[in-house]
Amino acid sequence: MLVIQRAAPPSLLRSATAGPQTARRTTIDPVRYPVGVIRAAFVGAGNRAFNAHYPAVKMTADEVELVAVCEVDPERLKRGGDHFGLPAERRYSDLNKMLAEVKPELVYTIMGPTFVKAVAERCLMAGAHVVIEKPPGASVAEVESIQRTARAANRQAMVCFQRRHAAVVVEARRRILARGPLTMCTVDFHKDLIPSGPSKDGMTTLWDDVVHVVDMARYLCGGKVAEVHAYRDAPFTDWPSLYNALVRFDNGATAMITGNRTSGGRFLRVEAHGREIGAYMDDLPRQVRFLTDNTGEPETLTAAELSGSDLPNVWEGVVAMHRHFADCARRNQRATSSIEDALETMRLCMRIEQGAREPAAVR
Ligand SMILES: NC(=O)c1ccc[n+]([C@@H]2O[C@H](COP(=O)([O-])OP(=O)(O)OC[C@H]3O[C@@H](n4cnc5c(N)ncnc54)[C@H](O)[C@@H]3O)[C@@H](O)[C@H]2O)c1
Repeated sequence: MLVIQRAAPPSLLRSATAGPQTARRTTIDPVRYPVGVIRAAFVGAGNRAFNAHYPAVKMTADEVELVAVCEVDPERLKRGGDHFGLPAERRYSDLNKMLAEVKPELVYTIMGPTFVKAVAERCLMAGAHVVIEKPPGASVAEVESIQRTARAANRQAMVCFQRRHAAVVVEARRRILARGPLTMCTVDFHKDLIPSGPSKDGMTTLWDDVVHVVDMARYLCGGKVAEVHAYRDAPFTDWPSLYNALVRFDNGATAMITGNRTSGGRFLRVEAHGREIGAYMDDLPRQVRFLTDNTGEPETLTAAELSGSDLPNVWEGVVAMHRHFADCARRNQRATSSIEDALETMRLCMRIEQGAREPAAVR
């Protein structure tokens, strides 16, 4: 395979690929990776795909050429095809036809957990790397199946935990790990789902949505899950709506995870601590406040300042995530939120769900 040396795009270097031992200041080092624009396709032009992934993938046109869209809904197919200026013959409603004719190297399979396994596995077996939204299936067994299929096909699958790539998270990890281990984090994701109820596809709000912060806790703490102590309650609802978990990792780090779905509205908060440093992300991923060395003076940095962009898709991490996976696809290497790693997040969700007591009576 042809490999040349060239400077990596800054956005690639800003992505969350560095592990705990390698986190360092952002510098433009030369990196080596194969040349070549990746031939990619979308399956699904639904809400999440069209609002987040279509514009983000368009911003990576220097490394990803979007050559086809497949969508069963004609109006959505039109908006998806129009977004990338595709000719009529590259707009498909039949996935098998699209895979056979286009032979994409990478497919963004952006749809809910009840459909995604069959679609993603078909793409993997056709030789494409795949991107999957969270949650990556309806059960741990389904996620395991996607992982097995990816391994058998020697292809990569990435799950969209884009907050790992958010500018504030990248900076918080970088600063903390420069001083030693990350010792603990607290992650909170609250909503008011009393009017709407839980997701209509039968999955719990932990599996479907609180999973974002379960994944963040795993990512920040590193290590393997050693112990889980959890409570699941159902205040004001007849479905599980309140999760509290204390998780110990085998490297000694601890995470406190809360997801309250009967609170007053959407609130997403992460804090992480290391040696004489605390990073407070009260409105993740908009900004981060650092307290260091007992100076008493917090330093506040916005995601726009850190990323150098006012575009939410950039500072939220969606573009960096897609650049990261394009690079992984080129090298046939695991992404930071690979299906293998995401499987551990989904297993932790199940441990929180199963380790929890039965829902308490509505008070
Ligand atoms: N990461 C995040 O922050 C975030 C935010 C919102 C939603 N999500 C996730 O995104 C996922 C998608 O949500 P959504 O609301 O966009 O779903 P959606 O139902 O609006 O979109 C899915 C689309 O896929 C199409 N589709 C399904 N099977 C197909 C097939 N075989 N061939 C062609 N087209 C097919 C459907 O017609 C539909 O238009 C969910 O899992 C959700 O949890 C993630």
